[in-house]
Amino acid sequence: MVDYKAIKNIPQEELIRILRFISEQKSIDLCSYRQNFCFRHIRSRMQETGCLTASDYIRYIKENKEELDHFIDSLSINVTHFFRDKEVFEAFAKNALVELIQKKDSVADRGVIRVWSAACATGQEPYSLAILLTEALQKKPNFLIKILATDVDNDALEAAQKGFYEERDFREMDKKLLEKYFEPVYNGKYSVHPQIRNLVKFERHNLITDPPFKHMDIIFCRNVMIYFSRQQQDELIKKFYEGLNSGGFLVLAKVEMVWNKDLFKIYDLNNKIYQKINQ
Ligand SMILES: C[S@@+](CC[C@H](N)C(=O)[O-])C[C@H]1O[C@@H](n2cnc3c(N)ncnc32)[C@H](O)[C@@H]1O
Repeated sequence: MVDYKAIKNIPQEELIRILRFISEQKSIDLCSYRQNFCFRHIRSRMQETGCLTASDYIRYIKENKEELDHFIDSLSINVTHFFRDKEVFEAFAKNALVELIQKKDSVADRGVIRVWSAACATGQEPYSLAILLTEALQKKPNFLIKILATDVDNDALEAAQKGFYEERDFREMDKKLLEKYFEPVYNGKYSVHPQIRNLVKFERHNLITDPPFKHMDIIFCRNVMIYFSRQQQDELIKKFYEGLNSGGFLVLAKVEMVWNKDLFKIYDLNNKIYQKINQ
């Protein structure tokens, strides 16, 4: 019988010890996440696995490597799919992207659209953006699409680079796009067409500790800021400001927002699309 009281009263230093251990194993700095959020998940996994102390749980992880994935899954850290919240992608394509393409078409450096998919997990978001832009630029062959997709999780990046996906990854994607840009391979899996894959470059990058990438026209950073403290969120928004070209667009998740009103104006509140304010 699991002693729930012992788990509830486990000292904070011990919970931090577990977080440090998991962070090392997964090369993700979980200690920079909202602590209460992580602690809640540690307690829940300890209950599930019948561990009463930090040492018990660390030993359990060492003996059962799959527990690392269970823990990360319990945080929903890597959860993603193609065109996640498809109305956001639709709204972005209909307004912001049209505006951006028009602007690029009329200035000297026209031709290249640079996108950063920050915290891209297993690649569904950057590949969705590659498809979205390819569709939008069908009649403008002189345009070049460059998508940089980054994440702190090496395992996720490796899977993204391989580009194999399952039926459930496409639940929000138009069937016609599936037929056009993917090929069925084996066991119900699909692989991304090289035409799309070649538009995306993957790189490891930590949003908290690394400097931003620059000269971007579009930054998608969705469903990761929720794990960060308010101060970390503010610092990240400043990095995105530095990373964007003038008038560039930042797209967050529905539950996330830009607090600092000096850097970005709201372009579409419902879909959390922001535009860089030129200073
Ligand atoms: C829920 S997924 C979001 C995937 C995609 N953006 C979406 O909205 O579907 C969150 C991703 O953030 C990544 N992540 C967490 N902390 C990070 C950090 N400090 N720097 C970069 N990526 C981070 C995780 O590894 C995970 O792949």
